[in-house]
Amino acid sequence: MKSKPIAVFDSGLGGLTVLRALRDRLPQEDFFYFADTRFLPYGDRPEVFLKERGVLIAEALVRRGVKALVIACNTATAAAAEAIRAAIDLPVVALEPGVKPAVGLTRSGVIGVLATTRTLHSERFQRLVGNHAHHLQVLAQACPGLAEAIEVQGPDSPVVAALLDGFVAPLATAGADVIVLGCTHYPWVADAIARRMPPGTTLLDTGEPVARQLERLLTTSDLLGGGEGRLRVATSGAPAAVIATVNRLWGEHLPVEYWEP
Ligand code: DGL
Repeated sequence: MKSKPIAVFDSGLGGLTVLRALRDRLPQEDFFYFADTRFLPYGDRPEVFLKERGVLIAEALVRRGVKALVIACNTATAAAAEAIRAAIDLPVVALEPGVKPAVGLTRSGVIGVLATTRTLHSERFQRLVGNHAHHLQVLAQACPGLAEAIEVQGPDSPVVAALLDGFVAPLATAGADVIVLGCTHYPWVADAIARRMPPGTTLLDTGEPVARQLERLLTTSDLLGGGEGRLRVATSGAPAAVIATVNRLWGEHLPVEYWEP
């Protein structure tokens, strides 16, 4: 079991920002990254669809043979984490927007959260804010179209710039001093977000804490180690359509295969 890879999945290539942190922390592990590109973006899809799709992917990954699963997608976590945990018997790491650390960091008392519509409307997110940040002003800014534009048009494209202008300006105006990147695609445009905020604004993503959590879970399940640092990347879309973006975002050539859960 120890020698099996760890599965990481997202609606697309956003989860590569999480994968980077996982590989930095656990370089000896093997990873299988799955981008569900055929259904990108998840952010505007109904919760019931995401729940069914998430369980289907998780069960297919178990059949494929993996030792743990990282849901590297805030939207899939919000909709499907509980159903996935109930469906499979493997360590599962889910992620959520970094509201808790933001509470400890804000001085202005105003926190901005950038995420998909589905994440922000979820019960899970409402609970997170209610439990940890009810005494602060939390500006939940939905960013429809942003994840897809980052992936399809590219992080430096005019389309992304125009979307960011619209989504980030209200947070700056309202005095937010911490911005939670509540979608795993957004770290690809962290610099562009920072440029639209006053100097000194803190941007939070969840790659690093997720990597620590995975390490803890593997340790307590006696599953840590046993790999050789291998990485396979798969998509439910056309590999030819995503390969250029994978290479650009990852910074080196990675082969991409087709996989149907
Ligand atoms: N990367 C995803 C997230 O963390 C979802 C983006 C999308 O497919 O809408 O929420």
